[in-house]
Amino acid sequence: MVKITLSQAILISIWVCIFSFVCSVGSDVFDHAPQDLCEFCAISNRTSRTRLLYENETTNIIAFRSKDPDCKKHYLITPHLHIKNYFSPEATCDLIHELQRVCHEMLDEEGIKYKRRILFHIPPFYSVTHLHLHCMACTNDDESFLSSQYYINKFMDFASPDIEDKCPHTV
Ligand SMILES: *[C@@H]1O[C@H](CO)[C@@H](O)[C@H](O)[C@H]1NC(C)=O
Ligand SMILES: *[C@@H]1O[C@H](CO)[C@@H](O)[C@H](O)[C@H]1NC(C)=O
Ligand SMILES: [Zn+2]
Ligand SMILES: [Zn+2]
Repeated sequence: MVKITLSQAILISIWVCIFSFVCSVGSDVFDHAPQDLCEFCAISNRTSRTRLLYENETTNIIAFRSKDPDCKKHYLITPHLHIKNYFSPEATCDLIHELQRVCHEMLDEEGIKYKRRILFHIPPFYSVTHLHLHCMACTNDDESFLSSQYYINKFMDFASPDIEDKCPHTV
């Protein structure tokens, strides 16, 4: 029987995470989804059955639950407009700040006290080419370094732009 030590197990799980992450984003790196196949456009225009948790007809922003949650609470907040990513010129700071505000409002309304993780992606590390904010609240279980989720979350944090660089909050 092959015995592996804890550190080997951790190393293996890191590699499994990196591998599965690269595979999951791979389709996007090589084939950026055109708008007519975009799953977030379909959610936004109601051709998909995903339930909306928030919608605002003035700002055209919607929010829904992530299909594949990385933390206990995980919402995706996105504009109706098919904006490619955080660095697109249409991703104005007003929009970026409004997406962040909606996230805080949703978590505040639920009275969530645990740790918030709020992030966009750096291209090409995303699975849907339609600007979206990951709005998450994580418990200690999500953050345990013995779970593979820990490494996925670390990578997501790493592959995320510093919002204050592009859009500092003015006081
Ligand atoms: C809704 O969005 C999907 C995906 O982008 C698109 O294929 C479809 O034509 C759109 N439908 C309407 C009614 O706009
Ligand atoms: C839509 O968003 C704007 C900007 O945050 C806000 O002032 C307005 O009250 C919202 N409308 C609804 C119906 O929630
Ligand atoms: Zn789209
Ligand atoms: Zn994403």
